[in-house]
Amino acid sequence: MNLILLGPPGAGKGTQAKRLEERFGIVQISTGDMLRAEVKSGSAIGQEAKAIMESGALVPDSIITTMLAARVKQPDATKGFILDGFPRTVPQAEALDVVLREKGLHLDHVIELKVDDAALVRRISGRFTCAKCGEGYHDEFKRPRHEGVCDVCGSTEFSRRADDKAETVGARLDAYHRQTAPLLPYYAAQGKLRQVDGMADMSVVTEELNRLLANSA
Ligand code: AP5
Repeated sequence: MNLILLGPPGAGKGTQAKRLEERFGIVQISTGDMLRAEVKSGSAIGQEAKAIMESGALVPDSIITTMLAARVKQPDATKGFILDGFPRTVPQAEALDVVLREKGLHLDHVIELKVDDAALVRRISGRFTCAKCGEGYHDEFKRPRHEGVCDVCGSTEFSRRADDKAETVGARLDAYHRQTAPLLPYYAAQGKLRQVDGMADMSVVTEELNRLLANSA
């Protein structure tokens, strides 16, 4: 099964992709995580992407589509994948169509997580992750079970993303509405678009996604 989780920054794409990964045995492919790894390694791509990401704008399509085309060819993607944060523009979606066609693959679902802008700002500004295993948390909605200790790996180191500052969130939302939202009619026209209420509690969103995907698997 190959699917896209579509939605604005903070909609819960990463949170839900990790849960679907476990439930369906398919791999999460997050272009944001890939770019952050490039920035951390100091690669040429990372050096070009760093300032763009910190400003809240989108990294050029040419960089992203090359990265993505290589990633879906990795052996762990053969059972299926969840695209999280890709595509983000119509040219990226068109490039994905070409990559899938070349590999003889099919896109099964495009699921939009619908969340109001006001809720997104609150979600993004409260987000933090385990610096060791990457487990995601939130100041209000998902604190570690034992304060200051990661539930998954026991690490006591946490980090916050450079682009989660209040002043950058507006630019990220603006990029979503201007450049990514046109993908909704693009996939609706292909009959692939499904919508899930991303305002609901995290576990309710997970149940809804499981129900939708199990019914059509
Ligand atoms: P990326 O890393 O993709 O970030 P994003 O799309 O902005 O999405 P987020 O990771 O912020 O949010 P999410 O939807 O995953 O939410 P999460 O589950 O963490 O991209 C970063 C940057 O990289 C971009 O700005 C761009 O510069 C560049 N980039 C990446 N891909 C690109 C591409 N294809 N093209 C061009 N540039 C690209 O949840 C958020 C918080 O809310 C968490 O704390 C979570 O615990 C909490 N939460 C989740 N669900 C709920 C719920 N139901 N109720 C309450 N809280 C919830």
